[in-house]
Amino acid sequence: MTNIGSYHERVRDFNWNIAEKELGYNPGDTINIGWYCSDRICRMGLSDRIALYHEGFSGEERKYTFNDLRLATNTIGSFLRDLGIVPEDRVCLFMDRIPELYFSFIAGLKIGAIVQPLFSAFGDESLFVRLENAGTRAIITQRKHLAKVRKIADRLPGLEHIIIVDHRGDKELLKGEKAFSLTEATPVEEIEIFPARADSPSVLHYTSGTTGQPKGVRHVHYSLISQYLTTKWVLDLRDDDIYWCTADPGWVTGTSYGIIGPWSMGVTQCVLDSGFSADAWYRFIEKYRITMWYSAPTAIRSLMKAGDEVVKKYDLTSLRHLASVGEPLNAEAVIWSEKVYGLPFLDTYWQTETGSIMISNFPGMKIKPGSMGKPFPGIEGVVLDPKTFTPITEPGKVGLIAFKPGWPAMMTTYWNNPEKYSEKFVNGWYLAGDRAYLDNEEYYWFIGRDDDVINTGGHLVSPFEVESALLEHEAVSESAVVAKPDEVNMEVVKAFITLKPGYTPNDDLELEIMNFIRKKLSSLAMPQEIEYMDSLPKTRSGKIMRRLLHAREWGEEIGDTSTLDDE
Ligand code: WT7
Repeated sequence: MTNIGSYHERVRDFNWNIAEKELGYNPGDTINIGWYCSDRICRMGLSDRIALYHEGFSGEERKYTFNDLRLATNTIGSFLRDLGIVPEDRVCLFMDRIPELYFSFIAGLKIGAIVQPLFSAFGDESLFVRLENAGTRAIITQRKHLAKVRKIADRLPGLEHIIIVDHRGDKELLKGEKAFSLTEATPVEEIEIFPARADSPSVLHYTSGTTGQPKGVRHVHYSLISQYLTTKWVLDLRDDDIYWCTADPGWVTGTSYGIIGPWSMGVTQCVLDSGFSADAWYRFIEKYRITMWYSAPTAIRSLMKAGDEVVKKYDLTSLRHLASVGEPLNAEAVIWSEKVYGLPFLDTYWQTETGSIMISNFPGMKIKPGSMGKPFPGIEGVVLDPKTFTPITEPGKVGLIAFKPGWPAMMTTYWNNPEKYSEKFVNGWYLAGDRAYLDNEEYYWFIGRDDDVINTGGHLVSPFEVESALLEHEAVSESAVVAKPDEVNMEVVKAFITLKPGYTPNDDLELEIMNFIRKKLSSLAMPQEIEYMDSLPKTRSGKIMRRLLHAREWGEEIGDTSTLDDE
């Protein structure tokens, strides 16, 4: 039996108050995600259940019960409060996947702060634009990332507190820097929980678009309702599960389903804070007897590449359910996983903006490998005609993925950018910015994005951000950035550049420019290839024709360039 039971019956009888009731929430009550994920679970008598098994990059193991989680989050929460952090202050989390990252997330929510998780591999420029945009007041980080924060702190007058969770006292602290140690702090038994309302802001995740700087997607505490229910019905988590979400909480999967979903259900989860290798991952599953595994297509493709033999070295019989998100999951990957693990990866589709799973293959439902599945009960999904913005009923016809707004985890705005937010709605539909078609059984098939954003290994990269960063290199005169096909990551970043007078194209310069981007932005945004050009193709009005370069990389028909010219 699955948690969802019959998909069709759930769709027919659906009401979000199913989740509200299970969580003991009545409309109008306070609803604090931090409290739901820790204190409530303890009150349910689960204080001694393991909340987190953690393995660090050098193999050290730690485990924490739900009571440890409750105390640790109280302790961090009161430390932040004592510093003067008040509700709606933005508190950035800039850490590797160490336990303090998970605890600080819950702690921030408990005191009503808006938590802003950022991927710790971000370089100083990526970090700067997101902190500046959010007007962040405090950042919680580690010694190893402090240099990046110090580099930009002077340009961020609003950033008052820089909290270092592993300061050993051997380095001098500069202005605004504070040491905090969870192991040395006195555990705080009780703190006053911020009485969040359904519409109180909770989490701010940054996502990249084609133009302009990244947008801060603002979520609210009520998002819990759909995060809880999708975890239960799609990820199918049960009381005795050992769950592993491989995503980093710097991205939305790592918070919606790497923190909130499992902990609001009182389920044990595992975190592995080290890089990818097939052996390391299989060993981790075997060691913790993981039962439910939520991962991403790039990782699955890498595992496929590692081959079938390595699978046989490990006992993976604990696994009972697998799911995937972030980019198209090819049919071969689904079929392969069924062959080697005895279980297919079920594809799920959603976005930072949607906050929770929107379209998915449900446990127990017929799977069509390569399809994203069907909308979650209560979600009204459609494919819209790109010209008229009306729903397409014809099977096989490609259009724009759109949803009727109003599900609990829906973003409430882009931070300081209500214009960009309203652009996401047409005719009463929320436009996801992706293209798909429906088949004759109303399964969704993903076609591609409806913009120039690059999805590399499940991470969105803005061509605009990379182009702007390239222009800051002394040798670069002009730049155009597009996706290039890649076997494992589906897409990687490729840059076309022209050089300033006095510079000549060569391999050393290519490497130097790649590194320049990696340090400034991140390894994800770093071009995997740089092609030197004498001039970039442009429209008559001087706009760079990215589409033409893109088509060339993908071996597509370039089509009528006269229309491109006039764009
Ligand atoms: C974009 C959202 C929310 C999870 C992490 C990504 C692409 C997501 C799928 C899928 C094909 C997918 C879409 C979407 N995407 N899931 N199952 N099949 N594409 O969140 O960074 O906001 O990216 O990722 O293009 O719009 P995100």
